[in-house]
Amino acid sequence: MSKLWSGRFTKQTDSFTDHFHSSISFDQRMYKEDITGSIAHVKMLGIQGIISQADADTIQNALKEILNDIELGKIEFDEKAEDIHMNIETLLIQRIGDVGKRLHTGRSRNDQVALDIRMYIKNEIKYIEKLILELQETLNNVAAKNIDTIMPGYTHLQRAQPITLAHHVLAYFEMFKRDYERLEFTYKHTNIMPLGSGALAGTTYNINRQMVCDELGFDSVTLNSLDGVSDRDFCIELLNTLSIIMMHLSRFCEEIVLWSSHEFKFIELDDSYSTGSSIMPQKKNPDMAELIRGKTGRVYGYLMALLTTMKSLPLAYNKDMQEDKEGVFAAIDTIKMCLPVFTKMLDTMTIKKESMLSAAKGGFTNATDAADYLAKKGVPFRDAHEIIGKLVLYCINNNTDLDSLSIEEYKKVSPVFDETVYDAIRVEKCVDARNVIGGPSREYITKLININNEYIKLNKI
Ligand code: ARG
Repeated sequence: MSKLWSGRFTKQTDSFTDHFHSSISFDQRMYKEDITGSIAHVKMLGIQGIISQADADTIQNALKEILNDIELGKIEFDEKAEDIHMNIETLLIQRIGDVGKRLHTGRSRNDQVALDIRMYIKNEIKYIEKLILELQETLNNVAAKNIDTIMPGYTHLQRAQPITLAHHVLAYFEMFKRDYERLEFTYKHTNIMPLGSGALAGTTYNINRQMVCDELGFDSVTLNSLDGVSDRDFCIELLNTLSIIMMHLSRFCEEIVLWSSHEFKFIELDDSYSTGSSIMPQKKNPDMAELIRGKTGRVYGYLMALLTTMKSLPLAYNKDMQEDKEGVFAAIDTIKMCLPVFTKMLDTMTIKKESMLSAAKGGFTNATDAADYLAKKGVPFRDAHEIIGKLVLYCINNNTDLDSLSIEEYKKVSPVFDETVYDAIRVEKCVDARNVIGGPSREYITKLININNEYIKLNKI
């Protein structure tokens, strides 16, 4: 088979060169986008009278048959035809002869590949958005069941103040809400139609770019042909967005790993989302959480790789840019596995409410509330902080906690204390007293869960 560009060559490419520069092994996944894009292009060529209507129809029909044959698994792609674009064009010419040679009129592979990858990414973004919403729905459901589940909130991984599990998981709801918005933003930048940019300088044919844009469901057309073929910002934005999603998953996974340890005992993962050890019979390991945490590294890597590939490229297209696809595809594949596994792992875990509560009761998580108690009775907060600090030290030395001190012990450090202190520092009270917007109180969290349900409903449409 001779190459579609063989005219100015006198020798064949080295077979290892073919293997080295071919992208068909990974860009074949864009076959549908490539054919759909070609059909829109050839339809426009026919309507504009750039090629005859009869030729346009013949090409369209043959392209549809090729699409069908690929889907039936009847087609074997050829490395020598380099990429998906030339594989399909070669097949077309094999099937309909000279008419097929008219498809590439007024088009270059440079604007063709830019079109294909945009179409591919657009679809995948919509799918990933759906996965994010499913995760948010699960988070909101876990929250709804755990409005009363008191646990310690941490700073520096030291017990800090009592919160609830609902409050904790809804923090992640907010993170994934921002991720969703970032996906929408990336979609907006991807949803611009580059075909018609040609190799770099547009085309001399009387093409109708808006017609192709409308046919393919894009928002608008690119406004500079050099940018049209050399822009990969939308790929980088996608990798950035996916990296941040992975970072969020990874942070939660880290907590899942900690919480399922014997030291925390806050949760138990379902057997279907854990694994055992080949040597230690007692083990039940949070492998899924660890693996998601681990895979975050590779997604960051794809982002770094593409940023670095693009950093010194002069305008317009350079073959370096063929390196965009493997990372983008692999990042998409990774996210599409991690999100549903994570969602199901969360949905099926058992929450050990008693352990969470007893952890919240230990570790002086109500010390701030004790200081606030004094401050509300007129003691300057700094002094209150000092007094409670002394009491905490006293408790540590006497192996007790603030709730168990006698009123005499309290009064010894400050006469301001009276019996009402015990109620003020109950962990349940500490949680409900934080009835500010954004806080853990049952009243506020109940409202937030309703707001989140509305958000999910709205975005699911
Ligand atoms: N396979 C190429 C890529 O993925 C398609 C564009 C090739 N263009 C070119 N002038 N060699 O970037």
